[in-house]
Amino acid sequence: MNERVYFFDTTLRDGEQTPGVNLNQEEKVEIALRLEQLGIDVIEAGFAAASPGDAAAVRAVANAVTKPLVVSLARANKGDIDAVINAFTGIENVGIHIFIATSPIHREKKLFMSKEEVIKKAVECVSYAAQYFKHVEFSCEDATRTELDFLREVAEHVIEAGATVLNFPDTVGYTTPEEYAQLFQYILEHTKGVENVRLSCHCHDDLGLAASNSIAAIKAGALQVEGCVNGIGERAGNVALEEVAALLETRKDYYQKETGINLTEIAKTSKLISRLTGVSVPPNKAVIGNNAFAHSSGIHQDGVIKDKTTYEILKPESVGFVETKLVLGKLSGRNALKKRYEELGYSITQEQLKEVFTKFKELADRKKEIFDEDIIALLETKTSEQ
Ligand code: KIV
Ligand code: ZN
Repeated sequence: MNERVYFFDTTLRDGEQTPGVNLNQEEKVEIALRLEQLGIDVIEAGFAAASPGDAAAVRAVANAVTKPLVVSLARANKGDIDAVINAFTGIENVGIHIFIATSPIHREKKLFMSKEEVIKKAVECVSYAAQYFKHVEFSCEDATRTELDFLREVAEHVIEAGATVLNFPDTVGYTTPEEYAQLFQYILEHTKGVENVRLSCHCHDDLGLAASNSIAAIKAGALQVEGCVNGIGERAGNVALEEVAALLETRKDYYQKETGINLTEIAKTSKLISRLTGVSVPPNKAVIGNNAFAHSSGIHQDGVIKDKTTYEILKPESVGFVETKLVLGKLSGRNALKKRYEELGYSITQEQLKEVFTKFKELADRKKEIFDEDIIALLETKTSEQ
């Protein structure tokens, strides 16, 4: 039996930290309902202590969804934890996500705390929260710049205090796949009580490695991946969850993991999040970009007309796109042009194709992309000349 990887979506919290993004309660609920359709296991709905509006939104999200667990972030202090307890009062299937920084840089330059003080704070907060929540996730902020032995020590203490999920964020997108895998291997091999908790990865994309790092962590034993749809988030963003989901599915032969993600819901989810956040998806973005299933060169177009698997490792329909797109331009070949005419309802002979193709190439030298109206005009001019 393949192991199950849990998907933790933080679009409504870390994703909202994208500069310029501010989601109101109604928008958060709409996104959360979509994430439920996508099959997300855990939704981080916000940061209850941030503002009364965020607390109300966190509560509204928890009331709106049925299947996913809903959590709120909290810093390691009683005030933040109380804000989460209050926001979730009387609601089932909720949890808390507490974090404190563990790296020497953060301990010395931000928190002004010793290692012992960090552990004491973490333990106090986790034990307090565990009295209210069955699900207590604990994150070692800036884990990837923390001494491994200290991470292990923190982990052992918070496990004993009642944490159920341990997250090791690559907060500043600093780690590499090999190094991140070693962190998880080390924790799994050396931490007392680790068999009782789920390990989680959380990657930022500052060096463009968020997907590679997440997948390396999963290969090394992490059973939860955290990120945002469309890869939005602080600075260069969080890992794009759709990339990890598509990768685990496409390369199931290699990773041998199961997920609860309904891949066909990806396109719809991506579009909604893009519309409500105002953050557009780059055309070349993996899995969800407009060009992800568009073929432009003649050689590739000829290949996909003969058999899509020649240049497509994912079916567009499998992630909710309607179809493969052949972009007509100067690199397109005769077969792509003929296919487009057929799709538009024209059946043309080889002789007609030969003639119209010459005109098409002349036009393509002048125009970057050729639209349906252009090729119809070419054919109709041809016909009326005869
Ligand atoms: O990137 C990070 O470290 C975080 C924590 C708050 C979990 O988002
Ligand atoms: Zn983060």
